Amino acid sequence: MGDIIAKFSEIFGKKPVAVSRAPGRLEILGNHTDYNEGLVLSAAVEQATEFAIAPASGSICTVVTFTGNGESKVEFDLNDIDSAKPGDWSNYIKGMIVKLREHGHQVGAFEAAIWSNVPLSAGMSSSAALEISAGFAFSVVFGIELPKADWARIGQAVENQYMGVQSGLLDQFSSIFGEKDHLIYCDFREVAVKRTVPVSPGYLLVVANTMVKHDLVDSDYNLRRINCENAAAKLKEKYPEIKALRDVTPDMLEAAKDLLDHQDYLRAKHITGENQRVIDGVAALEAGDVETFGKLMFESHRSSVDNFENSCPELDCLVELAKSIPGCLGARLSGGGFGGITIHLVDASEAGNYCERLETAYKLQTGKEIQTIECAIGPGASVETL
Ligand code: GLA
Repeated sequence: MGDIIAKFSEIFGKKPVAVSRAPGRLEILGNHTDYNEGLVLSAAVEQATEFAIAPASGSICTVVTFTGNGESKVEFDLNDIDSAKPGDWSNYIKGMIVKLREHGHQVGAFEAAIWSNVPLSAGMSSSAALEISAGFAFSVVFGIELPKADWARIGQAVENQYMGVQSGLLDQFSSIFGEKDHLIYCDFREVAVKRTVPVSPGYLLVVANTMVKHDLVDSDYNLRRINCENAAAKLKEKYPEIKALRDVTPDMLEAAKDLLDHQDYLRAKHITGENQRVIDGVAALEAGDVETFGKLMFESHRSSVDNFENSCPELDCLVELAKSIPGCLGARLSGGGFGGITIHLVDASEAGNYCERLETAYKLQTGKEIQTIECAIGPGASVETL
């Protein structure tokens, strides 16, 4: 955090009052289950966003981001942030202020410097990292005390209501509750970490970023959520006790197949399968059976292709290549889908070689470049008062 403190002082001519840090996240298993009150195995990554802050007078907030490529400065007036402006990264910060206000918490004017190495628009939740780093910084400077899970809910409300994406709680929750060198087994009915699961020694996660973002990602995402809700509503007619797709097993779904619109059925099949795969995956990891876990990752991707239809040719190409390169136990798309990243569970001793071979093979097949990252699993968000 030393760099961001020095940078803040250079830009604003004074020291920050607090510095927060919120990581990006990886969805390891359990795709689109979060908003169905389901189960996910996820992790916070070491890549994170740092947010240095000091209060200012008046109503103008000044925010400077800096990366290797230079600086970008945004100013906004606290009296003029009611709605998001297209293509403005500071929407995530303004959205946090607006949603906190709606919950009775006031954020005053401030100056802030932000640094991040979470890849943008890749499926590693750079937006959640920005929301949570901003929220934790505000908590110190403006004395806002909230339970940790409520910070995740505020971040989700920014996405749902300020940005218009009907996402679940996974991204903000994982950024907050992540634990170094562990996967977190999350239950989105309880909005709690069931338990943490150590990553098996000798293995690591490789992320392959296609750097592709297909059009209509947000509207496709929202449509998937509607499909899931439609399926749950129909299934309730047969099973009045269910509250969400979380309560439906694969067998229950098959027994009610004819009641459902076919597309809704396919979406529900993905969700019920994913919940079961998370349960099986945790059991496999806890038994030291990494091979079974890898197979579940491949099955998850297959279900994204066949049932949830949230994959794309670039992601499919990477998962197919993963099957032919030695050292990989499993691979799948991770996050919303429709572009972004795949994650690969790899024998650590082969990782460097694996990344090279994946990049070369992908280039040969598609003519395009990917970026690979050997991902270390880091701690959840924190804030330090200076
Ligand atoms: C995105 C959303 C999350 C979650 C995943 C899919 O990352 O923001 O809430 O739904 O997609 O699991």
